[in-house]
Amino acid sequence: MEEEIKKKLIDLALQARQWAYVPYSHYAVGTALVTSSGRIYDGVNVENSSFPNGCCAERVAIYKAVSEGERQFEMIVVATENGGSSCGMCRQVMAEFGLDTRVILVDGTGKIREETTVATMLPGAFTPKDLL
Ligand code: THU
Repeated sequence: MEEEIKKKLIDLALQARQWAYVPYSHYAVGTALVTSSGRIYDGVNVENSSFPNGCCAERVAIYKAVSEGERQFEMIVVATENGGSSCGMCRQVMAEFGLDTRVILVDGTGKIREETTVATMLPGAFTPKDLL
């Protein structure tokens, strides 16, 4: 079951890459996540001619999910040509919603390059608990 969902997320993240808006970096990122309620969201990076306004694929998928009431994420797959990792800003946004979320990095062929968790990717994370 879990393997099935992982495979589905990998396929969706790879598919989503075609929608990445990346006229500046040409680095297409596709993501797909599953929530604890079983809903699936995808996302792509969306760049902007005013560079800092661009948004990473991970955050697009997470914000899509949060904007529909979802706050718990089981797994997020990140697909790039070279299996690159998530940036620090995305790690922080992931950490906001749980350190146990599994993160799977795949390359452009769908090969898994790394399987990890948010806790491992962002040791000593600043989380909502620090404010409560
Ligand atoms: N990018 C992501 O979408 N996710 C990351 O975590 C790393 C970087 C995007 C941002 C930009 O559009 C392109 O990749 C190159 O940095």
